[in-house]
Amino acid sequence: MRRKLLLGNWKMNKLASEAKEFAVASRDLAKKAEANNIDLGVAPTYLSLATVKENAAKTMIVAAQNVHFNDHGAFTGEVSIPMLKEFGIDWVLIGHSERRTYDNETNEKCNAKIKALIANNMVPVYCVGETLEQFEANQTKAVVGEQVRVGLKELTAEDVKNLVVAYEPVWSIGTGKNASTEIAEDVCKFIRDVLREMFGDVADEIRVLYGGSVKPENIKAYLSCPDVDGGLVGGASLKIDSYEALLNNIL
Ligand code: 13P
Repeated sequence: MRRKLLLGNWKMNKLASEAKEFAVASRDLAKKAEANNIDLGVAPTYLSLATVKENAAKTMIVAAQNVHFNDHGAFTGEVSIPMLKEFGIDWVLIGHSERRTYDNETNEKCNAKIKALIANNMVPVYCVGETLEQFEANQTKAVVGEQVRVGLKELTAEDVKNLVVAYEPVWSIGTGKNASTEIAEDVCKFIRDVLREMFGDVADEIRVLYGGSVKPENIKAYLSCPDVDGGLVGGASLKIDSYEALLNNIL
């Protein structure tokens, strides 16, 4: 049985003081989520990770939005896995489409990061998804299949059992244009089929999320799809009321 997972991606939003306020306000929600067998989390900016970890409930997942694959060295502006671990952070988003677009995050680079995370017993949330152009050219499965195959190459079934994959069609991120539940299910099922082809039955344990204009009004429909195990939510995760409504609507 795969546990549902609701993860907020705050992107480049919230001052540390605002993140702290949210973390304190989320304590009861984390309890409610736990009582209902739902994993709940947020991915703040690096500068807010420590305060969110300190002020949120123990069961709240606190994820970084990126990491470097080297432990230390001359990589100006980067943050490493041991630096995250020192703060008790063990979840990291990898390959978000905004990083693929603006920071040249390739499938190969994602693979290096995912391998480094797994070697350190951390949980990568590997984001995949096609652009509007690729969607319109009917290339969704070719693109997403390649992202999954290259991003997860040279890993074993044992390695990937805690991995999370998030399908986020680029054309639906922050646009209010949702993928229909049929598309979300079709692509999430396709991802699971690729995972099964690569790693065997462990594919049934790996959580696959949908992301892209998920709101309190539509989250339930996505989570009713058999292969959608949760949501990766941007805009609607920023305000505590809306975050609470997302959770309440999947209880
Ligand atoms: P929105 O929910 O704002 O569309 O963002 C989705 C996303 O990119 C989450 O990672």
